[in-house]
Amino acid sequence: MYVVTGATGQLGRLVVEGLLAAVPASEVAVAVRSAEKAADLAARGVAVRVVDYDRPETLEGAFAAGDRVLLVSGSEVGRRIPQHRAVVEAAKAAGVALLAYTSAPGAATFRLADEHKATEELILASGLPYALLRNGWYTENYLGDAAGTVARGVVLGSAGEGRIATAPRRDYADAAVAVLLGKGEGKGEGKGAGGSRENAVYELSGDAAWSLPELAAELAAASGAPVEHRDVTPAEHLAALVGAGLPEGFAEVLVDVDAGIARGELAGTPGDLARLIGRPTVPLAESVREALKG
Ligand SMILES: NC(=O)c1ccc[n+]([C@@H]2O[C@H](COP(=O)([O-])OP(=O)(O)OC[C@H]3O[C@@H](n4cnc5c(N)ncnc54)[C@H](OP(=O)(O)O)[C@@H]3O)[C@@H](O)[C@H]2O)c1
Repeated sequence: MYVVTGATGQLGRLVVEGLLAAVPASEVAVAVRSAEKAADLAARGVAVRVVDYDRPETLEGAFAAGDRVLLVSGSEVGRRIPQHRAVVEAAKAAGVALLAYTSAPGAATFRLADEHKATEELILASGLPYALLRNGWYTENYLGDAAGTVARGVVLGSAGEGRIATAPRRDYADAAVAVLLGKGEGKGEGKGAGGSRENAVYELSGDAAWSLPELAAELAAASGAPVEHRDVTPAEHLAALVGAGLPEGFAEVLVDVDAGIARGELAGTPGDLARLIGRPTVPLAESVREALKG
């Protein structure tokens, strides 16, 4: 079976759709914390296993020997090491054939990447066959409220001219599907013996990196309205995010990411993602047009 955790989330749903396009529903299972949210998948013949990363006992029996599992990283920053440890231990106890994990770029030194690095260590220590999908940033991180950004006329950040090689979630999801299916042409620096793609590390990113000034220019071009880039100090950025309603702790994490972007830590374009999915990644301009349409 192919098993996807976090399958009722935004990335997980796209992965499940990709799997269902490739294999019968009887070969797909999801491990999710709400059966209700996965009712549509159950109706399509997908096995639904109810788990909570916070409750290790719910993970017993979630996986079976030979499963190819995608652990979609949890969304609760600060709690993810014990959560992911519970999933890795359950996968190990079951003897899964592959544990793939949505990680963060290897170059990232900002705090948000710490839990990913710790999870990678847990996976390596487990001895399970693994694939580390080191996902770069989602384009959607910047376009969730594209119309609002255009209305305000300002792209605000503290990343300076730092570049970000984003791709939309659907590209990362397609890469995860390729890895689960054992397909794709990824390089995988840790590629296993005998040409196997197991034990591989993929640095996944968009094909092209862009800067916040370029994002402002794209939004202006696509909307016909003036949009400027305003680079602010980290303290001003923090105040703006908190003022917009973000909890202070999470706002600090985001400002810290911008410092990493300024250092170039999300700018790498090694091409692993395009190679895995067998096509170019979706360019920023196309995502901007789509976001403003919707
Ligand atoms: N690369 C990037 O730019 C970027 C940006 C944001 C996040 N991320 C990471 O990538 C992951 C996937 O992104 P996304 O956009 O799909 O996020 P998302 O929509 O928030 O999905 C997160 C999924 O994790 C599940 N989950 C959270 N806590 C859980 C728990 N205790 N037990 C079981 N499942 C749990 C959620 O379940 P429910 O459906 O029940 O809520 C949801 O399905 C995120 O969780 C985060 O680690 C990456």
